[in-house]
Formats: sequence, structure tokens, C-alpha cells
Amino acid sequence: MLILGIETSCDETAASLVEVRDKKIKVLSNVVSSQVKLHAKYGGVVPSLAAREHVKNLRPVLELALKTGNCKLETIDLIAVTAGPGLISSLLVGTAFAKTLAWKLNKPIIGANHTEGHIASNWLKSVGGISNFQFLISNKILGSTKRYTLNAKCSRLFPALCLVVSGGHTQLILMKGFGKYKTVGGTLDDAAGEAFDKIARILGLGYPGGPVISAAAEKAKAQNPKTKIKLPRPMINSKNLDFSFSGLKTAVLYLDMGLKKKLSKNKLPKNLISQIAAEAQRAIVDVLVSKTIKAARKYGAKSIMLSGGVSANKLLRSKLQKTAEQREVKYFQPSPEYTTDNAAMIALAGYFNYKSGHGDWEKVQVNANQGLY
Ligand code: KG4
Ligand code: ZN
Repeated sequence: MLILGIETSCDETAASLVEVRDKKIKVLSNVVSSQVKLHAKYGGVVPSLAAREHVKNLRPVLELALKTGNCKLETIDLIAVTAGPGLISSLLVGTAFAKTLAWKLNKPIIGANHTEGHIASNWLKSVGGISNFQFLISNKILGSTKRYTLNAKCSRLFPALCLVVSGGHTQLILMKGFGKYKTVGGTLDDAAGEAFDKIARILGLGYPGGPVISAAAEKAKAQNPKTKIKLPRPMINSKNLDFSFSGLKTAVLYLDMGLKKKLSKNKLPKNLISQIAAEAQRAIVDVLVSKTIKAARKYGAKSIMLSGGVSANKLLRSKLQKTAEQREVKYFQPSPEYTTDNAAMIALAGYFNYKSGHGDWEKVQVNANQGLY
């Protein structure tokens, strides 16, 4: 089956062709047009601008996906489009485009859940690679490499504990199998990515926050600070599985203001900014890792799966992997190209949910707050 994925839930216009045959998954093309530069000057995504860009970009992005995937539009068997959660204006553009295609080509169409897409990104190999519904896991503890099959009946992987961390979401989801989800924890205020974005803004580092904070933290590594910056790890010891990041953002704001006053400066020196960024990154990662492990233990998870834009964070990737492996829990994370929004993950999530023989275009309804069923 050849699936065309279309993703426009936020500020990335994406189209991808994914082929699934005999339990083998192959990404034929994965095209993403990012609007990051456009929104950077506003310090965040402007919904009306994002929608206009999607209108402009969808056709060239689709054409490039077809060209690089060496496919004709007529050969597609299924269209999968993000129906939510996301920005309503962005979702409406993508779904209207996809529905029109489905109607014109007389092909089935299915609305995919963006969060489920992020989880599915763990199953994807780089363009041209084949996943075979399997993961190769290097098991450092046993000193060997094991192959685990990923399918709905796989008793060795499920229940899996999924940490989905993006600009809009910080969720701990217990996955019992494909389509079987239970949200067991989430943020009470800001999402982890949002915390990175807001802290970067306070520190004058730019947008999006995650990559610029990581880069600043790398610079801090090379320094040998005399005074250690210390920031709180909100709710790290709370009994529940929820998160709160707005207090951390406020702590950075007060620290920044206090240091500026103490040094009688309007702008902090670069080395100090890097140290604050490094500590903020450590604080966010510490909380995410601690709560994920707690949830995995509570629900007896056999594996931990990371996903969402923040899963690009190198410190989070290495710390969660190390901690999971120390506890002998299998660990998965998406390849870097599938960490941020893309349409390959949507194509695959759509495929997993495509059970009926025909996806009706009239049934695809957008929902900005769509949860996991
Ligand atoms: O999943 P995504 O592309 O879009 C949403 O669905 O929100 O995630 C975007 C978020 C942004 O908040 C961005 O700052 C964060 O992912 N992000 C990172 C990194 N790269 C992107 N956060 C931490 N470290 C990174 N390297
Ligand atoms: Zn996302």
C-alpha cells in the first residue's frame, strides 16, 4: 500500500510517501517546508501567517514529495492527513487540500492524530531504509544486539510508556498496542518545548528555543564557571505523573533580572547566558527523565518510547536512554529527521488506523484539541 501523508498542524508544511508491504515500511520521500524563519521575528508561531504559508506551500511540497519518491499521484492507495491536535487554521488548510485530492482522485482518506504520528515516528527509518516492523536494539547491558518485532501482539514491547514532548504537548502515554492509549500524565501549564521557547526568549537567544538553548549549553560546557547557577526542578518529587514548567520559566526571569541589577547591565554577558541556558536544559531534562521512569515503573512498562520536537534534544536522548537501559527497560527514540513535525509519521499513523476498506473524505473532521482515544 502506498500512503501519502500530509501534515500542516503547526508551522511545517509536509508531504511524504510511505510504502507498507508485507509488514515492511519504507519511506520513499519526506519533504518538510519549515516556516521557522518567518515566525522567528515574532518569537513564536503566528497562526494566520502559518495558514497562509500552508496554502502557498502545499502544492510545491507535494510535487517535490512525488518527484523525489518517484511516484505518480494516481498510484497512491491512501491519503493520511493530520486532523488534530494543532492550530485550527493550519489544520483546516491541510485537510481541505487532502480532501480535495481524495475527491478528485477517488482515493480513501483518513484523518490522523498528530500525537499518534509522533509516537509512530519511532517506527520510521531514513528515506530508502526499510523498517520491517522491527527495531534493532543494541542492548548494552547484555553486550549484544537484539531484534524485537514491533506489531500489535508484541508482548515484549507493550505496554510501552511514551513520552511525547513538543511545543504544544508534554504527555506520558501508556500504549498497550496500536490504537490503545491511555494518558497517564501531562503538563499542568507550559509544555516542555514551550518552556524551552519562553526561556530562550527571556535570555534573548531567539526562536525556536530548544536548538538555541542546546547550542548555548554546549558553549557553557567549555567554560569553567566560578558560581554555579541553580534552578528548580518543578514537581520532580511530586507523587503524581504531572509536570509544570511555568515556575521554571519564572525562576529564569527573576534570575535574569536579578543578575542584570547586580551587574548593572541591560544585557547579561554571553558566558552567563550560556550557563543559565545549560542549567535550564538540565532542569527540564531531569524532570522529564525522572517522571518517565516513575511512570514506566508504576505501569510495568516493557519499553520506553520518546517522541515529539523536544526529542531532538541530545541531553534528553542520552539521559533517558542511559536511565532506561540501567533499569533494563527497552528504549526507542526517533531518528533525528523524524523528531520535529513531518508527514511520514502521519502516513504511518494513518496506515495503522486504516481498518475499513474505504476512508470517507466527509468523515475527516478537524479537532484542534484532539486527544488520543
Ligand atoms: O513537535 P514539534 O516540531 O511541533 C509541535 O507539535 O509543537 O515541536 C516543536 C518544539 C519547539 O518548542 C522547539 O523548541 C522544540 O520542539 N525543539 C527542541 C529541540 N528542537 C526542537 N527542544 C529541545 N531541544 C531541541 N534540540
Ligand atoms: Zn508535533
